[in-house]
Amino acid sequence: MTEIDRADFGKDFCWGVATAAYQIEGAWDTDGKGPSVWDEFTHGRGPLGLPRIKDHATGDVATDSYHRYEEDIALVAAMGFGAYRFSISWPRVMPSGTGGVNAAGIDYYSRVVDACLAAGVEPWVTLYHWDLPAALERRGGWTNRDIVGWYSDYVTAVVGALGDRVRHWMVFNEPLSFTMLGYLLGAHAPGRFGPRAFCAAVHHVNLATAEGTRAARAASSVDTSVGTTQYLTPVLASGIGPLADVAERNADAFLNRVFLEPNLGLGYPWDDCGLLRGIKRFHRPGDDELATIDLDFLGVQYYTRLRAPWLPVPGLWTVPHFGRDRSCELTSLGWEVRPEGLGMVLDRVHTYGRYDRIVVTEGGASFDDRVVHGRVTDNRRISYFQRHLAELRSARDRGVPVDGYFCWSLLDNFEWTFGYRPRFGLVHVDYGTQKRTIKDSGRWFANLLGGPGDVVSTG
Ligand code: FCB
Repeated sequence: MTEIDRADFGKDFCWGVATAAYQIEGAWDTDGKGPSVWDEFTHGRGPLGLPRIKDHATGDVATDSYHRYEEDIALVAAMGFGAYRFSISWPRVMPSGTGGVNAAGIDYYSRVVDACLAAGVEPWVTLYHWDLPAALERRGGWTNRDIVGWYSDYVTAVVGALGDRVRHWMVFNEPLSFTMLGYLLGAHAPGRFGPRAFCAAVHHVNLATAEGTRAARAASSVDTSVGTTQYLTPVLASGIGPLADVAERNADAFLNRVFLEPNLGLGYPWDDCGLLRGIKRFHRPGDDELATIDLDFLGVQYYTRLRAPWLPVPGLWTVPHFGRDRSCELTSLGWEVRPEGLGMVLDRVHTYGRYDRIVVTEGGASFDDRVVHGRVTDNRRISYFQRHLAELRSARDRGVPVDGYFCWSLLDNFEWTFGYRPRFGLVHVDYGTQKRTIKDSGRWFANLLGGPGDVVSTG
C-alpha cells in the first residue's frame, strides 16, 4: 500500500472534488433554462435510428443536484475537501445563448456559491463543460467564428454576477474531448462529423480561451485566478522504428499540443499532424496574437494513457486508441490504471517552462460499486488515488509546481454516452431514490483530510 500523508503536500495544497452541470443537475427545462446540445443529443436518435447513449439514458434528472446542491456541498465538506469544482450551464444562464440573462439561472449558481462559502469550501467554477445552448448550435456552434464574441459576453455576464465571491475560474473543460468527440467523430453532442467542422471548432475554442480569460479578468471584482483545463496523455507508439516515431509525434501534436501551444504563443503544431493543417483555412492574420494568453494556472486532467497505433503512412493522422495491456489493472470502462502517466504529463507541461501553477483538475476511476449493508467497499478506487497522489508528490519533489488535485467525481453521475453504468463517485448514488452514500474511498479522504466523514442523507 502506498502511504499518503497530507503533510507531504504542503499546507496550501488544494484538495477538491469535481462535477459538471449536465452530469449532475437534472432540471433540464426548469426555471427558464433553454435546451443544450446535450439535451437534444440524448433526446434524439443516432444514424439509422440507433440509440446514442447506453440504456437511452439522459441527463433530464441525473443526480437532481439542481434541487439537492446543499446536501451535495455538505458531502464535500464532510469528506474534508476544501474545494468544489462545478460548472455553469450556459443555457441555464442564457437560454438562447446570447442576449437576455435568465435571472433564475444566475440565482441558482449564486446560491451554490454561497452554500460553498458557508460550508468553508472554495468554489472553483468551470465556465464551459460541453453543454452549449442548442440555439447557438443552430447558428453553427463552435464552427462559427462569431462564437468567440458570444462566449465572451456569456463569461462577462456570469463573472459579473458571481465574480465578487468566486476566485477560481476555468474557461474550458477539455477542449480536445468536445471538439474531437462532438465535431470530428460525431460520438458526443452535437454529433457532427468531419475534419472541416473539427478544425474550425479547434481554432475558435483556442481564440475563445484567450478572449474568455480576458473577459473573466475584466468582469471580476476580487483578486481572481483564471485558468483552463486540458485532457493530457503520454503517447506511446505501438511499434518501433522511424514510422513509429512519426506516429508518436503525430498523435502528440493532435492530443496534447494543439490546445496548449496556441495559447502559449507558439502557434499550431500543424507540421507534425496532417489533420491540423485544415486549421489554416480558418486562421486569419493576427490570430496567433489573439490566441496567446498568460493563464494563472493550467488544469491537467489525467485518467489513462493512450497508444498511437503504428501507421505506415507518415503525416496521416493516427487514430489514438486506449491501450489494452492485460498485465495492467483496468477500470470498468476498460481504461488502464497507469499512475506513472500522471508524472509524465506533469513533467511534460513543466518543460514548457511557462506554467507557474499547475492543478490536477480531474482524475479518477470507474468501478462497479454496490451498496452492501449501507456500505460501499471500493478498495480499488482508494488504491487508484493513493498511487496517483504518490506520483503527484514525486512530481512536486522534482520541482513541478503542482499544488492541487480534484477527484472526479464527487458523486456517481451521468457519464456521457456511457449513461449511468460507470460509477466514478466518492459518493454512491441510488438513482431510484437519489440516496447518497459515502463510499469507503470518500471515508479514506475524510480520514486523510480530517473531515467528519459523514452527513445525514435526506434520500
Ligand atoms: C472527463 C470529463 C468528465 C468525466 C470524466 C470521466 O474527460 O471531463 O466530464 O466524464 O472524463
